[in-house]
Amino acid sequence: MTITKIINNFFSSPEVLKYYSHPHFKKPEIFLIKKFFKKKGKILDICCGGGRVMFMLSQLGFEVIGVDNNKSMIYAAKQETKKKHYSNIKFFLKDASEFIFKKNYFDYALLLDNSIEHIPSKAKRLKILQNIYFSLKKDGLLIISLTSPFELKTFFKILFFRGDEFGDCIQRINVANKQFFLFYHYFFPWERKYFEKIGFRILEIFPLNLFDTSKNHFSNPNFYKFFHNLFYCYYVLQKV
Ligand SMILES: C[S@@+](CC[C@H](N)C(=O)[O-])C[C@H]1O[C@@H](n2cnc3c(N)ncnc32)[C@H](O)[C@@H]1O
Repeated sequence: MTITKIINNFFSSPEVLKYYSHPHFKKPEIFLIKKFFKKKGKILDICCGGGRVMFMLSQLGFEVIGVDNNKSMIYAAKQETKKKHYSNIKFFLKDASEFIFKKNYFDYALLLDNSIEHIPSKAKRLKILQNIYFSLKKDGLLIISLTSPFELKTFFKILFFRGDEFGDCIQRINVANKQFFLFYHYFFPWERKYFEKIGFRILEIFPLNLFDTSKNHFSNPNFYKFFHNLFYCYYVLQKV
């Protein structure tokens, strides 16, 4: 099976569609949106899935535009929109690397739930970040989440997976007691530097461990902040 098929199969499965089209925020998302999206404005949600975050933002009074390349996701998102009559919400079925919107249009952008890691090509990942940069207003913010390659099991999979690029691997995952495969490209610390090359300034970094302390081995939050490159993180980037 090709990598594109693996990705498409996963995101088109009913269990996954249900999760991503059910309106909800995760705990860190509530914190970040409260802290950084202070004034109401226009939001671009790249790899928006079934719109779970967009529905919440629409209810909060933001204007939201979402892009995803999975037909079933966009269909589920549109069905949910009709059902609950959300306003100021629009979905586009398109590959994010080919989606170029108006220049300097959005106040904020989102690339959540590690979506960029399911894009199997460095050139495409960079293009997506460049497109977001183009469409954001000056000083506009992008919130992006990235998992870490430094978890032991993941690290060995990356070492032994013969993908096109170092950092690629296929993971087996369980959703609602069903087994799936999914493609990941894990970002090593040196790849996180691309943000700055494109023109973003890293405003703040929040390791996930600050929000979910139940699994923390170290009680001092500064440990996670200092070694953030080793952990799942939310990055708040600003267009300068
Ligand atoms: C992990 S889901 C996250 C969805 C959403 N960001 C959220 O947090 O609920 C990743 C999404 O990225 C989409 N995706 C993967 N590759 C894409 C591409 N090249 N262009 C647009 N969307 C893509 C998938 O279809 C899927 O809906």
